[in-house]
Amino acid sequence: MGTGAVIVQPAARVRGRVRPPGDKSIAHRYALLAAIADGRSTIHGYSTGADCASTLRCLRGLGVEIRETRLHEEGGLVIEIAGRGLRGFQAPPDVLDAGNSGSTIRMLSGILAAHPFRTSITGDDSLRRRPMRRIIVPLERMGARILSDGGRPPLTIEGSLRLAPLDFHPEVPSAQVKSAVLLAGLHADGVTRVHEVLPTRDHTERALRTFGSEVTQSGATISVRGGARLSARDLVVPGDISSAAFWMVAAAALNGSEVVIEGVGLNPTRTGIVDVLRRMGARIDVAPAPRAVSGDAGEPFGTIVVRHEGLLETQVAPEDVPGVIDELPVLAALATHGGALSVSGAGELRVKESDRISALADGLGRLGADVQERPDGFAVRASRRLHGGDVNAHGDHRLAMAFAIAALGASGPTTIHDAGAAAVSYPEFFSVPESLRA
Ligand code: S3P
Repeated sequence: MGTGAVIVQPAARVRGRVRPPGDKSIAHRYALLAAIADGRSTIHGYSTGADCASTLRCLRGLGVEIRETRLHEEGGLVIEIAGRGLRGFQAPPDVLDAGNSGSTIRMLSGILAAHPFRTSITGDDSLRRRPMRRIIVPLERMGARILSDGGRPPLTIEGSLRLAPLDFHPEVPSAQVKSAVLLAGLHADGVTRVHEVLPTRDHTERALRTFGSEVTQSGATISVRGGARLSARDLVVPGDISSAAFWMVAAAALNGSEVVIEGVGLNPTRTGIVDVLRRMGARIDVAPAPRAVSGDAGEPFGTIVVRHEGLLETQVAPEDVPGVIDELPVLAALATHGGALSVSGAGELRVKESDRISALADGLGRLGADVQERPDGFAVRASRRLHGGDVNAHGDHRLAMAFAIAALGASGPTTIHDAGAAAVSYPEFFSVPESLRA
């Protein structure tokens, strides 16, 4: 997805305040759980991005009634979802379209595994290249039947009313895979357990508890007991730290910068970006909102202030990767401004919305960067200033935005082709820089 070219001019510094869009990961989960809960839920601050719209489109295809209102002052959406209860979806009249969204197709498949009819889900060119065996194998072991195109979408899922619980050891650290299995486990006869390779974002576990399900964690094992019904909730989605990361990096990169990020999610499984930026030399203050403000939905949020203080050389090791998986493109962009960054154990980047390792090395290289591509990562060194030029986002939202942040430090302008891809997670992204440059 995504069209259009955007020209990014170099910037001396960035200063100001940013309120990022609602967290994409959390929004998907709240919408999915609200759809299978009993009663009407309201979700405030639902992301305006195309991926979150894909989840709503698929849910409507399954008979879920959803009302959307746009809040102009705050930018986000308010969504009202009439829950259909466990196993309450209707067989869809058409193929569902998950667009560009891996989270939508993988997590929804976990719920469809418990619905006794056939559903086909497809997506755009990028999604139809992404690996699905990682969810097909466990969901089939639980009792669903899933047809695919050689392990890729479209998927045709034939669910079962009697799902068996599963003891699952995923091969890759993936919150989407963990979530698909936990969501199927919610419908199984007994306790389903996922034993994680490395800890990944825990929004599904928190959201399940919020909606009234019994989820426990012991070491690396997460367990859910099947059968409990969920109750509707009134929830607020915190700002997306993965979207905020672009402005955090811009502030860390440019001398004299200070950016205040407001209303941003501070879930510890997502704040790896703060740790890596500190290691690279940025000065960062984090102020969690008091509980009275953040409510009891289980997702902490607050304010992050980032100031430039020079840039150092840093490594991101395999165990750090799940905590910054979506921020690695913009961290690569940071290392074009100063210091150096070496990343290993990040082979998963090759199966994201694009092959992010090769597309990053190619794109940053075209702008003049010194990038070394590796099978499971990359190394970027700020040995010379970028000259700018033409670069293509390859339909990948995070690359469109990462190239824009790299371009701020170039000696000349940069044209980002396919920049419209940013709308997948952050439609307002390209209108923010003007307010920060002022
Ligand atoms: C996500 C998990 C990550 C991340 C993706 C969103 C989620 O994917 O890259 O953007 O919402 O659970 P994996 O879990 O497949 O690594």
